[in-house]
Amino acid sequence: MSHMNPVLSVIGTGYLGATHAACMSSLGFTVVGIDTDKEKIAQLSRGELPFYEPGLDELLKVEIASGRLTFTSDFSTAAQADIHFICVGTPQKADSLAADLTYIEGAVAALVPYLKPGSLIVGKSTVPVGTAKKLLDQLAITAPQADLAWNPEFLREGFAIEDTLRPNRLVVGVTNDRAEEILREVYAPLLALGTPWIRADLPTAELVKVAANSFLATKISFINAMAEVCEAAGGDVTVLAQAIGYDPRIGNKFLQAGIGFGGGCLPKDIRAFMARAEELGARQALEFLREIDAINLRARQRVIGLVRAELTQDLGAYKIAVLGAAFKPDSDDVRDSPSLDIAAQLRAAGASVTVHDPKAIVNAKKRFPDLTFAASVTECISGSDLVLHLTEWREYRDLNPADLISLVKNPIIIDGRNALNRDRWIAAGWKFHALGRSNA
Ligand code: UDX
Repeated sequence: MSHMNPVLSVIGTGYLGATHAACMSSLGFTVVGIDTDKEKIAQLSRGELPFYEPGLDELLKVEIASGRLTFTSDFSTAAQADIHFICVGTPQKADSLAADLTYIEGAVAALVPYLKPGSLIVGKSTVPVGTAKKLLDQLAITAPQADLAWNPEFLREGFAIEDTLRPNRLVVGVTNDRAEEILREVYAPLLALGTPWIRADLPTAELVKVAANSFLATKISFINAMAEVCEAAGGDVTVLAQAIGYDPRIGNKFLQAGIGFGGGCLPKDIRAFMARAEELGARQALEFLREIDAINLRARQRVIGLVRAELTQDLGAYKIAVLGAAFKPDSDDVRDSPSLDIAAQLRAAGASVTVHDPKAIVNAKKRFPDLTFAASVTECISGSDLVLHLTEWREYRDLNPADLISLVKNPIIIDGRNALNRDRWIAAGWKFHALGRSNA
């Protein structure tokens, strides 16, 4: 690849791919986004984002208008490109903890007929360690003119553009200097910002991603375990988190106790990591992740326990209001949302459950048609016997508890995210519960 301005293809235009395509175009590259989902491609081509991500819809429109960014479902378009980023999903398999690699395998197979001599496939999807080597071995037979690298992506929903254009680090797994040089050229504008560059072998690059997500999941479950102990001992986990967080070796990020982690990455990644470790004969090394997963799921049950303690064991007669459906604020993603899991379990136990969310109602409705959805907080909590605050949108933090009290039947709120101002709610006359904080 001697020329300085390679054409890029991005295979898979979901969260990761749509963001990567728009951001690479903003760096000046010609980018074609390819996906088998024709509806998604039609939407993106019109400059519409099929999901919510702050700032990305504007960027998408600007990049399409620049003429550099196009979308298609026609794989033969990939023939124009020199570098192919694989951004397809790797969801959890329905029947096990392992990751489903169908989309990755399909994407690479679909590319094979269109790979130019010297082209580079760059995997960005999160995969079980060993996947890249296997794909490279297959390419040696089906497309020996091409090379493969792995370049994991660490973007957070809600910060997708920032994490792509100003990442904490760039990690590239390669098998030769040429592949590294190509990627250095592609990411030159980011390297110029001083972004740390880590060259690794293929398995290490794959492992970096799951190790990072396992560490983050561990931090969250650690503080949620402390929350359980605080509840038992009459302590306050929010004060504890603040106090340990001042130690720079611990750090204060990802120590927010509450109903735990969800979303499209952390839960499935730790499970797939355990499944892969077992295959590799290293099951014991990741046994602790089973406990991390269990602590995380237990947080949801603790909220349900609090509800039952406040109301009665028979929830049939009660109306429960749930604030928040997305797995975290500033997102419309409801994949493995702890909030919706709690809402659905309360519904299954007989309660009538009304859910509000500033952005995620459409997605939530598709997955949980049994729940009732409200267009406003007022409508959601009117006549309710208990309010659950389960996704910490700014809009909820800014609510005035004194204004709300006349709307509810019973002024009881459970803060599942430790994000509301407890004193303010209590002063306004509410009975206030939070995970990991004694109510003394
Ligand atoms: C995560 C990783 O952060 C990112 O690097 C990776 O690329 C993809 O997975 P994301 O899924 O967008 O990103 O969400 P994140 O911000 O990590 O939050 C995950 C979950 O943990 C959310 O449900 C959030 O509510 C929860 N969380 C986070 C806590 O419960 N407490 C915390 O202190 C932090």
